[in-house]
Amino acid sequence: MIRLIISLNFLLYWTPVLTEDNVVTQIPSVAWHLKGESAEIKCSHNKDFNYNQMYWYIQRQGESMELIVYTTASSKEFGSVDKNKFSTVKEIAQNGSLTVKNLDTGDSAVYFCAVKEHSVTELLYC
Ligand SMILES: *[C@@H]1O[C@H](CO)[C@@H](O)[C@H](O)[C@H]1NC(C)=O
Repeated sequence: MIRLIISLNFLLYWTPVLTEDNVVTQIPSVAWHLKGESAEIKCSHNKDFNYNQMYWYIQRQGESMELIVYTTASSKEFGSVDKNKFSTVKEIAQNGSLTVKNLDTGDSAVYFCAVKEHSVTELLYC
């Protein structure tokens, strides 16, 4: 039996204007799962409804951050990942979730969530 640890960064904010009350929350912050299980990661923010774009990233140890999927309530665009591995729920601006299916050791990683205001065209990374 292989026990997986998937660690989730719970504070990442991604916007041109950073202030102290801009908070994106990911729950849980650390999740332990068994091989073959699914893990659901939830992300929510306290910004207004204009922040309706949600990005999910994976960062495996020693590797750079990789886009899993970009979601809005009406669209979904996967990065160059296995689409069968992930599913998302994005119904309202304030939150969303990512499910990683059929977990394997390669899924042990840090998962990031970021939100963006729809009218802002320039992306800033933090
Ligand atoms: C998003 O918020 C709604 C309303 O508070 C809640 O019913 C839903 O479960 C939340 N979804 C996620 C993925 O957190």
